Amino acid sequence: MRAAELIEKKRNGEPLSTEEINFLIQGYTADSIPDYQMAAFLMAVWFKGMDERETTDLTMAMMRSGDIIDLGAIPGIKVDKHSTGGVADTTTLVAGPLVAACGGRVAKMSGRGLGHTGGTLDKLESIPGFSVEQSMERFAEIVAEHGLSVIGQTADLVPADKKLYSLRDVTATIDNISLIASSIMSKKLAAGSDAIVLDVKTGSGAFMKAESDAVALARAMVAIGRGAGKRVSAVVSDMSQPLGNAVGNALEVREAVEILQGQHAGGDLAQVSMTLAAHMLAVSGVCGLDEADERLKRAVADGSGLAAFKGMIRAQGGDPSICDDTSRLPAAAGRYSIEAAGSGRLVAMDTDRIGISALLLGAGRRTKEDRIDPAVGIWMKKRLGDFVREGEVLADFYVNDEKNLEEAVAGFQSALHIGRDPVERPRLIVTILEQ
Ligand code: URA
Ligand code: CA
Repeated sequence: MRAAELIEKKRNGEPLSTEEINFLIQGYTADSIPDYQMAAFLMAVWFKGMDERETTDLTMAMMRSGDIIDLGAIPGIKVDKHSTGGVADTTTLVAGPLVAACGGRVAKMSGRGLGHTGGTLDKLESIPGFSVEQSMERFAEIVAEHGLSVIGQTADLVPADKKLYSLRDVTATIDNISLIASSIMSKKLAAGSDAIVLDVKTGSGAFMKAESDAVALARAMVAIGRGAGKRVSAVVSDMSQPLGNAVGNALEVREAVEILQGQHAGGDLAQVSMTLAAHMLAVSGVCGLDEADERLKRAVADGSGLAAFKGMIRAQGGDPSICDDTSRLPAAAGRYSIEAAGSGRLVAMDTDRIGISALLLGAGRRTKEDRIDPAVGIWMKKRLGDFVREGEVLADFYVNDEKNLEEAVAGFQSALHIGRDPVERPRLIVTILEQ
């Protein structure tokens, strides 16, 4: 087999066989196929697409490129959740503890922030002492004891995806359903859980901005997961504005703790977290959806969700007292209020630009080498559809280093569109693909 022939075949719109896909992924992982050929192949896929069988083959080939985690030592059904990435998307820190409190077993390997989106590991590391690096033995122990552990991916989890993602990032081939689905699902399958709940985002802060694309991505991922014998549900949810109020690591931990304490109950972050948690319990076989709803509300009201979060924090070396007193989280030196320049309704937000503004303050990384400042970020005060008066506060910026402050403020202001037209508030849950 020659890579050039396979590139030509895909360029001409023909499907590749299982063996051909294996050849490309094995060759690329082993450095026998160079970046320039893989870049041409990815662009051919971007234009011509892959069918369901090819996408599954691609996922399986990628999954087999590195370690496959065996969670068999942990009793019961292990459930994972995954978000395709968003802004103020802190659902793991709310849903994970609640599911654990209701008898689920959440064994989650998470990633770091990517572009404008935040990462669960960076958020957890804002808790003083918390370590996302645990041995597989310790990970299993923590899940068995507390029902929840979140750790970083092992270095050798799907090395094919590390290479492919970096290449896609610089060749304009991120936004293809087969490539995103295989990237995410290869990692989920290698991470060893029995059941998976996917949260596929749509809107201005999502990778898949159009609703129809997000639904197609959800379908593709569900098909791959079920084909691999996993129990999978997918929720397609709105990302046309930041999901919660907080954008930034310690701020997002604070908001998650507040929800677990029973605050912000009607808010979008709480609602999406509850929906995901209910489906996590359902795919785990713990209980049906109606009962899940009741149990989850009880886990907030009786404090058992917050207790589960404390249990994981303590087990991973962190200071659980932040759950009783969030002022013990890292705090920024300065706070600046951003005011509305005119009056009207908040008709649209460029959510990805809000994420970039937080990144410019130090909440995210522009390059892999950038260091994150856990304390900084943005606290949103308004939602889509709200009426704002000129001079009213739209958001507070929490700042340590003022170097990029001006650029961050300008980007934020241009991301919020205030107009006169009536606006419909976006549907929070677009659709659910149930197991
Ligand atoms: N997240 C991933 O892990 N991979 C993608 O391709 C897109 C989002
Ligand atoms: Ca992600």
